[in-house]
Amino acid sequence: MGVLFGKPFSLIPEFVWRNALKHLPIPPMVTGQMSRVDVPGRVVGRIITVPLTPKQLLTLPRSQVQGRISAAIDKARDLGASVVGLGALTASASVGGRAFAKRDDIGVTNGNAFTAAMTLQAIEKLTPRLGNDPLIAIVGATGSVGSCLTRLYAHKHPGRLLLVARNERRLQLLADDVRRDDGVEAAISTDMMDVAKADLVVLLTSSPDALLRSEHLKPGAVVLDDTVPRNTDPRLLKARPDVLIVDGGLVEVPGFDLRGSIALAPKLAYACLAETMLLSLSGHQGHFSIGEAQVDQAEHILNLANQYQHLGFHLAPFRSFGRLIEDGQFTPEATGIKEDAICAA
Ligand SMILES: NC(=O)c1ccc[n+]([C@@H]2O[C@H](COP(=O)([O-])OP(=O)(O)OC[C@H]3O[C@@H](n4cnc5c(N)ncnc54)[C@H](OP(=O)(O)O)[C@@H]3O)[C@@H](O)[C@H]2O)c1
Repeated sequence: MGVLFGKPFSLIPEFVWRNALKHLPIPPMVTGQMSRVDVPGRVVGRIITVPLTPKQLLTLPRSQVQGRISAAIDKARDLGASVVGLGALTASASVGGRAFAKRDDIGVTNGNAFTAAMTLQAIEKLTPRLGNDPLIAIVGATGSVGSCLTRLYAHKHPGRLLLVARNERRLQLLADDVRRDDGVEAAISTDMMDVAKADLVVLLTSSPDALLRSEHLKPGAVVLDDTVPRNTDPRLLKARPDVLIVDGGLVEVPGFDLRGSIALAPKLAYACLAETMLLSLSGHQGHFSIGEAQVDQAEHILNLANQYQHLGFHLAPFRSFGRLIEDGQFTPEATGIKEDAICAA
């Protein structure tokens, strides 16, 4: 399930379009579909778009927003789906799907367990290039993906963490947990300026706009941006050629043909969508990841990815703003990425 990232008809002024979305009872729309390459023509999944912008999802009254998402879930059920995944900010707007926990007509997942697992793998691929004892900032650490990633990382690695979000109490509780359970060095901050100390910045925030600015980045920093819509602005590439921005949360699924509204390269899927696909393939019944994604759910979904590896479900080669980063080329200059060649999805 997704949200609208742009208006479909360019002649309609932006404010008219936004107001229409807010006030008119526009129903959820099927905007994409997928089939298996080995069974062409048989639709096995659909993308349903909630007709609201990312900003409206986070700022309109919760009951109104959750009503719109619920209508999209109804549509998935009516189309015969057994499981529905909450893509982009539909998870944040429904408290990680908790708002739908009482539904028993369809299984709901926020897709965040597999996202956390894939993000950990991306961090593990990036850290050897960062020098000794790098500081990793997880921005949005207390969120559904962020908290699961923080725990997964702390279970496996002794490295230094900086946990960032706005709510200090939640940060403190999470940091206490991982210090006590795993003995890791975990600092906390509610100030984005502290991110400038980090060698690797992992973005897991639920902001509708670009949050990470040039002044938040140390010279030569690497950014792993999982956010949808992305919280990094392509202009950063020009302003900070020393910084590498990697698109996070992307999985290769060559066994599937995905068509429609997901603005990604062929054979790529967001990790949250991949989680939903895996649950459907395995015949999962009932809800899966609701609220904070759990470490055991990340382990379970990784096992499923292993079971269905003939269809893909592995971390995609790194891209920056959609452009492939060749192996060994590690700076934006080396990738040849230019600002005018970038389409921010
Ligand atoms: N690529 C993928 O497949 C994929 C999959 C799942 C999710 N995502 C994306 O990942 C992001 C996180 O998703 P989620 O479901 O984990 O969201 P979430 O549960 O709502 O968590 C958001 C986190 O960001 C923090 N935050 C929000 N605004 C902030 C700000 N202005 N400054 C600092 N921290 C801020 C929140 O804490 P405070 O409220 O305390 O600030 C919280 O820790 C979203 O952009 C989502 O679309 C991508």
